[in-house]
Amino acid sequence: MQETRFGEFGGVYAPETLMAPLEELEQAWRELREDPSFEADLHSLLHDYAGRPTPLTRAEQLSAELGCELWLKREDLLHTGAHKLNNALGQCLLAKSMGKARILAETGAGQHGVATATACAKLGLECVVYMGEVDVVRQRPNVLRMELMGARVEVVKNGQRTLKDAINEAMRAWVSDPEAHYVLGSALGPHPFPSIVADFHHVIGRESREQILAQAGGLPDLAVACVGGGSNAIGLFRGFLDDDSVALVGVEAGGEGLETGRHAARFSGGSPGVLHGCFTWLLQNYDGQIEHTHSVSAGLDYPAVGPEHAALQAAGRASYEYATDEEALAAFSALSEREGILPALESSHAVGWIMRECEELRGMRIVVNLSGRGDKDLSTIMATRGGSAVDSVQGSEVMS
Ligand SMILES: Cc1ncc(COP(=O)(O)O)c(C=O)c1O
Repeated sequence: MQETRFGEFGGVYAPETLMAPLEELEQAWRELREDPSFEADLHSLLHDYAGRPTPLTRAEQLSAELGCELWLKREDLLHTGAHKLNNALGQCLLAKSMGKARILAETGAGQHGVATATACAKLGLECVVYMGEVDVVRQRPNVLRMELMGARVEVVKNGQRTLKDAINEAMRAWVSDPEAHYVLGSALGPHPFPSIVADFHHVIGRESREQILAQAGGLPDLAVACVGGGSNAIGLFRGFLDDDSVALVGVEAGGEGLETGRHAARFSGGSPGVLHGCFTWLLQNYDGQIEHTHSVSAGLDYPAVGPEHAALQAAGRASYEYATDEEALAAFSALSEREGILPALESSHAVGWIMRECEELRGMRIVVNLSGRGDKDLSTIMATRGGSAVDSVQGSEVMS
């Protein structure tokens, strides 16, 4: 294997049975990323099927209110409603080129599961998605979407029954079925996954850089994205890594507040350790046991962060902040009411941090990655508001 780490972070802390498939994957990726016909096929899928490039939209009203120049990178408008499809199409195309017929995946918010089910339907691959029971309940529309596209959803009932446990099960399934390809859904796990996933999402940053130069006439002061495992953030950041004037900020889930212990802010409340095959920042106790996490958004509810983010933080190139559930919900309302965009609760964290820090950010040009749309979160949102007009009609005795 070639370089497996970002600084001291990353590596391949994988069981021996997975070393052969991981090496095979790295080899295939190194060959195919240079292959013009693979690149052309991927470009055509992204452009003609998925709807790239996604627009960059100026948030006029929110900018005026916050006193900054806020631009939204609209990954919510990508087919299936989130950035996850960039990686799912890329990895499924890669797997197909490797002669694989069966795909395994995990999902938290359901967006990666939907994206993988979509890519498998499009490319004619069998698809099994592992999803924690808690997430199955809070992201039910996405479970139905996966099933409608022919994927089998395996409900994971172990542990906290969220993303971490779904990844455990998917990895276990891969160990016993190494002929399948495991489409890991974020920029984490053992090498080469963090590099492959970041490569497939680099398109977000490349497009954002071109678009902001064309539409605003200059680079942003700040690029901001929410960070679960870190795939949408690394995709955006990679577009601006060489622009020293552009500050990079990742926003983690502050949950109910750091002091409550119910959060997923790895950089603020964690320490370096090993989870799911890589050395990185994570939430663990003194003995190295993984702590429970909490976030109102399923996609940020995960105890570890991708290793490239750990290295960017160590190098001082990016900083990592957090927004609480409450701040994310306030940002959801602000974007809905002022811009006519229902954002994913994950993406709402990035905007929530900007809203909290707006005094400090006054006058700045900011690109924020709107990683997904909020349709999947409507039941969570309505539950926090005590229901809707629909509930009151359903609950009444009105007869037609
Ligand atoms: C819309 C959306 N944004 C962000 C995330 C967080 O993942 P990542 O940090 O890999 O971008 C998810 C995860 O499911 C998601 O669905």
